Amino acid sequence: MIGAGYVGLVSGVCFSDLGNVVYCVDNNKNKIDLLNQGKVPIYEPGLHEILKKNFTQKRLFFTSDLRKGVEKADIIFICVGTPTKKNNNSADLKYVFQVAKQLKKYIKSYKIVVTKSTVPVSTGDKIEKILNFKNSKRLVDVVSNPEFLREGEAIRDFIYPDRVVVGTNSKKANRIMKSLYLPIIKRNSRYFSTSRKGAELVKYASNAFLATKIAYINEMANLCEKAEVDVKDISFGMGLDQRIGDRFLRAGPAYGGSCFPKDTKALVDLAKKFNINLSIVKTVIKSNENRKKILLQKVKKILKGKIRNRNITFLGVTFKPNTDDMREASSLLMIPGLQREGAKIRYYDPTGIKQEFKNLKNVSFCSDLSSACFKSDLIIIHTEWNEFKFLNFKKLVKKKNFKIFDLRNIYNLNKMLNNKINYFGIGR
Ligand code: NAD
Ligand code: UGA
Repeated sequence: MIGAGYVGLVSGVCFSDLGNVVYCVDNNKNKIDLLNQGKVPIYEPGLHEILKKNFTQKRLFFTSDLRKGVEKADIIFICVGTPTKKNNNSADLKYVFQVAKQLKKYIKSYKIVVTKSTVPVSTGDKIEKILNFKNSKRLVDVVSNPEFLREGEAIRDFIYPDRVVVGTNSKKANRIMKSLYLPIIKRNSRYFSTSRKGAELVKYASNAFLATKIAYINEMANLCEKAEVDVKDISFGMGLDQRIGDRFLRAGPAYGGSCFPKDTKALVDLAKKFNINLSIVKTVIKSNENRKKILLQKVKKILKGKIRNRNITFLGVTFKPNTDDMREASSLLMIPGLQREGAKIRYYDPTGIKQEFKNLKNVSFCSDLSSACFKSDLIIIHTEWNEFKFLNFKKLVKKKNFKIFDLRNIYNLNKMLNNKINYFGIGR
């Protein structure tokens, strides 16, 4: 596995647990040092236990020496990041191509080189060109095998995926890939073999579709607030139609994370290169950007326009629960936005203090829930961690007339109102 991040590390650990010998290679030496000390550099439930087991049993190795990782490998997975480029919306493939160039130096016998990173259509062709071994027999097959795991649920998603998608026109590579995934396919997952470009596009099309579902229900939530309907009933009622399904129909803050925002932009950019206008995906991106502003306005409305010197508490700041990942979290816009208007912000997150807020005046991290909530004017439930689901707010806040803004609708509206708590949710 080249790149030991959320995808490379989880995939590597899980492949080793299936009995394979796995080398995880990363050019971040600190990360590799931590891993070799048995420490996990990311927060992902269940990862540490499986990692430790396979590391001890010598099926799992960590190194920053690419040669060592590649020499004995039959299959090489490229799992490096593909962030948005600085000057436009396309996917920055510099890390992927860097790896491909380095691989060329070390590949001496037949290998399958797999892109697990999310890459635009035809990236596999470009990698193949870089790896082109002239005047010798075919040394590599370049395959696309996009990853569909979610952070926070990565182990389960990897071991029990709905589908495994493999894109290649090489029968040999397909056979080897299928045998690698056999223990997983046997557990009721579909193995879908398609063209390399097809597999590359399945990944972007899937992420954009999921992002569309969320943006759609978030806009319905805006309507529900005006029409005095609970958006939870709308999600449930819609989801009973199996063609729609109720998963990924939870209204909330803007969708965040390392992938939906960047992949929707990259897909629009890719389509533009083919002269195709993906107007739906463009609208989803705009709708999601707008959502962050809508939420800030709603906070102001809840506090009746008085933000200066108000004590505001954020419960959770990551883009979703069970991860420490801050990429594109709504809190990154909401906290500085409220701080600029003079609010005093305390936040608590189970994954600890965040560098992103370290230099903001009047923004402080609390290491426990009680000190975060004490005497707060407004509590914003930003991320739906389990530990936030059964709180006695009156006991925690110890102050009259505090308000709660539940961005994840984890509390029962009527119970809150019966308890005489000033409670506001999303789309209700
Ligand atoms: P990440 O940033 O967590 O990890 C990438 C790792 O690659 C880093 O540790 C970095 O040090 C390493 N790296 C960069 N260049 C390298 C090089 N030349 N040699 C060795 N290591 C190198 O990224 P991620 O979240 O794991 O995402 C990786 C890819 O997988 C992206 O394309 C992403 O879109 C895709 N993806 C991510 C998720 C997810 O949940 N995070 C899910 C599915 C797909
Ligand atoms: C997402 C996809 O779900 C994965 O299939 C994919 O592999 C991954 O992107 C990727 O390509 O990186 P992830 O970003 O880890 O996974 O997390 P999700 O559970 O999809 O959540 C993304 C965002 O949508 C979060 O901000 C979450 O709070 C939000 N969301 C999700 C909602 O607001 N409502 C929902 O119903 C579901």
